[in-house]
Amino acid sequence: MNASDVKATLSFSDGSPSMDLPIYKGSIGPDVIDIRKLYGQTGKFTYDPGFLSTASCQSAITYIDGDKGELLYRGYPIEQLATNCDFLDTCYLLLYGELPNEQQQRDFHKLVNNHTMVNEQMQFFLRGFRRDAHPMAVMTGLVGGLSAFYHDSTDINNPKHREIAAIRLIAKMPTLVAMAYKYSIGQPYIYPKNNLSYAGNFMRMMFATPCEEYEPNDVLVRAMDRIFILHADHEQNASTSTVRLCGSSGTNPFAAIAAGVACLWGPSHGGANEACLNMLEEIQQMGGVEKIGEFIKQVKDKTSSVKLMGFGHRVYKNYDPRAKLMRETCHEVLTALGLENDPLFKLAMALEKIALEDEYFVSRKLYPNVDFYSGIVQRAIGIPVSLFTAIFALARTVGWIAQLNEMIADPEYKIGRPRQLFVGAERRDVPPLDKR
Ligand code: CMC
Repeated sequence: MNASDVKATLSFSDGSPSMDLPIYKGSIGPDVIDIRKLYGQTGKFTYDPGFLSTASCQSAITYIDGDKGELLYRGYPIEQLATNCDFLDTCYLLLYGELPNEQQQRDFHKLVNNHTMVNEQMQFFLRGFRRDAHPMAVMTGLVGGLSAFYHDSTDINNPKHREIAAIRLIAKMPTLVAMAYKYSIGQPYIYPKNNLSYAGNFMRMMFATPCEEYEPNDVLVRAMDRIFILHADHEQNASTSTVRLCGSSGTNPFAAIAAGVACLWGPSHGGANEACLNMLEEIQQMGGVEKIGEFIKQVKDKTSSVKLMGFGHRVYKNYDPRAKLMRETCHEVLTALGLENDPLFKLAMALEKIALEDEYFVSRKLYPNVDFYSGIVQRAIGIPVSLFTAIFALARTVGWIAQLNEMIADPEYKIGRPRQLFVGAERRDVPPLDKR
């Protein structure tokens, strides 16, 4: 870490001695104040629920400038990656730090393809679930279950194990998501086919049946691939921080990633894509574009707990660059399918326009995020709404594993252990039962 010449001085109004705190500079982005010695020297903790002002680690993977609306993976703008690279190039970049050359690309594809099948026993594990289980409940179980099948890659302290676990996870997630889907609709699983692209293989496992081959449509495969790229990593978001915290105890990588899947499920995070499409469908049923005003009124009513799903972000205080790319993909996919007049897309665009002009959203800097349009694209591709978040998990797996491996390799890494401001009862004695 690069120390700055400037130091922060913390002083106390009760006359306690002040303390100098070192400041470090990142390559870009805000500086950080190092408070690690604070407790030892002052007996005080910092208080920051929700980590509004706390950097929990140093990382060289993803950078977000929330004010500019900029997202970089290893320095490359998301717009360039989404246009010039595919998902596996992006995975290579996130894992190893550089884009692959031709040979590395070929080798990486081969490596991932070698691991696309899952242990045959996994299907019996899957059968233990109810068919109407939510796919994210199933995925949390299946990903955690991988640790029971792949013992030779569960030692997080062994760099070889970490690498093979990363490849296994990237390769097997599409197979697992497609299996979870096929199980839910009572169709036989379709085995992976390794001569297809990553996204094409996934779509075939989703939509082919033993009696009918899936004819890939280039525009739709490209759209799926773009969804994967846009969701691949997003620095220290809730699920990634969960993976890091979970992995910091030294647990095995599959268990740590399963924790990430569980966190992602929530509607404030990855579950927003499903919630957003449900919201659009509800407004459509209420009467569509005509009813936007009424809906926005409910959103602004602080007693209603209704949110405009797919809007707002902790870090972006500008248009989420992923939302722009997703809107572009939405146009392409709907045009390719002859669905230019799709009512939900029209509704989403009208809703976006009205919200972006409304003082409530303007003053709070609330803009569309990646989930605002991704549901419409996925629905058009034929993905059921309940599977949207599982697809997000599939794509984010590379980010989680890259971040986890970065943490384990960092000599400064320690088990994560936040502290608290205790506001409960002081010490007291247990009264006898008749006195409680
Ligand atoms: N609709 C209505 N009001 C909102 C929304 C929204 N979508 N998002 C934020 N606000 C309001 C919020 O009520 C608060 O108002 P006030 O200052 O009057 O209390 C203000 O804006 C600041 O919001 P916050 O809740 O303090 O912001 P946060 O950084 O804690 O939350 C968020 C970020 C993403 C959880 C939130 O914007 C949200 O719930 N959005 C909808 C869910 C969503 O789309 N999530 C996907 C995020 S992107 C994909 C991903 O990475 O998972």
